[in-house]
Amino acid sequence: SVKELRAAVQHARSEGIRVGLVPTMGALHEGHASLIRRAAEECGLVIVSDFVNPTQFDRASDLASYPRTLDADLETMAANGAGIAFVPSVEEMYPEPDTRQFDLGEVAETMEGAKRPGHFNGVCQIVSKLFDAAMPDRAYFGEKDFQQVAVIKRMKELCGYEGIEIVRCPIRRAADGLALSSRNALLTPEGRAIAPEIRRIMLESQKKFSEGVHLPEVKTFVEEAISSTPGLDLEYFEIADALTMQPLSEWPAEREAVGCITVYSGKVRLIDNIVYNPSTIHGK
Ligand code: PAF
Repeated sequence: SVKELRAAVQHARSEGIRVGLVPTMGALHEGHASLIRRAAEECGLVIVSDFVNPTQFDRASDLASYPRTLDADLETMAANGAGIAFVPSVEEMYPEPDTRQFDLGEVAETMEGAKRPGHFNGVCQIVSKLFDAAMPDRAYFGEKDFQQVAVIKRMKELCGYEGIEIVRCPIRRAADGLALSSRNALLTPEGRAIAPEIRRIMLESQKKFSEGVHLPEVKTFVEEAISSTPGLDLEYFEIADALTMQPLSEWPAEREAVGCITVYSGKVRLIDNIVYNPSTIHGK
């Protein structure tokens, strides 16, 4: 329960122990494991939350089909250095409907924010509840959800969580380049075979960037390459400012540009991204 979690955290704090939080929706894979390991390297107590948050799903079917593998998750947590598994019920996290609307501004308006109305508000509802319950010094998020990290940073400012450091960790990939995701488990064998094309095409676009190809042409290249790949349906590809998440029409001189993509393989929604000029923000 939230009460038990708070008591455990307070005890740890009174002993001067640094607390790390890894929020997850379960179905843990090596990407999550790497977050837990990083947290365990940096914090004396690592809390991993495992909660499929209903308020961030814009489609009931997506929520219903989200993979749930609690027993395996608990093993992954223990094996990678978690001290507490926080696995609350929906009633525990939402004893009453959460009607809070976060004023997230422009970072939440584009891309995922535009395609999934209410999604980021739901993410902020649960993450703020987890922050309140776990009171962590550091919270760890994967860079696969690049825009989500920007939104959570905005929520942190908005809600005054000054004491919580948001740590963004690199995407973990399968050997063939596919970004690890809980949703990969839902791919058909044919879908799984074609999905690495997303990464291949994104890497090719990065090569074009380094060869000096203009941004609109790189964007068109990715859109056309994905659209002409049988079995992949492009939802969007956008090249955005990596801090503001606003679409760019030319390469920025001093800011970083991130290419964010969402592709369907059948009913499975896959996201990935690539930073074109990772000189200043990467890893911060
Ligand atoms: O990235 C996720 O898995 C979720 O959006 C998060 C941050 C755990 C909130 O439910």
